[in-house]
Amino acid sequence: MFIVLEGIDGCGKSTQSSRLGEWLSGLLGLDAVLVTYEPGGWPGGEAVRALARGGDFSSVWSEFFLFMMDRCEHVARVINPAIAGKKVVLCDRYMPSTLAYQVLSSTIMTESAAEKIIGLSKLIGLPQPDCTFFLDVNVSVAKSRMDARGKRDSFDKRGEDFFERVRLGYERLMRSGAGTEWVRLDAALDEESVFAALRGHVERLMSLEGTEMPDK
Ligand code: TYD
Repeated sequence: MFIVLEGIDGCGKSTQSSRLGEWLSGLLGLDAVLVTYEPGGWPGGEAVRALARGGDFSSVWSEFFLFMMDRCEHVARVINPAIAGKKVVLCDRYMPSTLAYQVLSSTIMTESAAEKIIGLSKLIGLPQPDCTFFLDVNVSVAKSRMDARGKRDSFDKRGEDFFERVRLGYERLMRSGAGTEWVRLDAALDEESVFAALRGHVERLMSLEGTEMPDK
């Protein structure tokens, strides 16, 4: 099973991803679960992650190709082998991040660019997640969380308007369905409540798929 967590910076995705990973590993065993992330979740990927985070590009397409290159390596080296090994794969960001951050947020990209890029991702053979969770939170809450963690530079650098457009981009992807089941979670809630909702949906997905779960 392939599960993706998405949302704007400060939505709490990384915390939820590691909690879900711990819970799944406790339930199914360490070897049955892979917790990974983009950008950079492959051997050698740290260099791409540093480049992506440095992010001083003149063309939005440079960023786009950087994230796509990162994903192709991540899929080939990490995700596909884990799916083939029947692991539960949990990925913090995936294709919707590129669509929301590089494509739908951009004033120079059109809606048809997003459709073509979804087509491109199929052509490349990127695996489609079974479920994508959108941890939805408004921009001011996300910004104050980033402030509290001393990580507000990404908001200062790109501006709140940018994150409003990214959030709308996710909305649009969710409405169009875009090749995966989408579940929106209210990420303004406290960590425990978000995790309880997430875990509930994952239990449902596992029982639909027939994953054997030990008695609790
Ligand atoms: P990171 O510190 O991992 O942030 P987060 O914990 O929110 O994931 O930095 C990743 C940044 O890269 C984040 O601002 C989102 C951005 N990003 C893109 O713009 N496009 C992409 O395709 C991906 C995967 C990430």
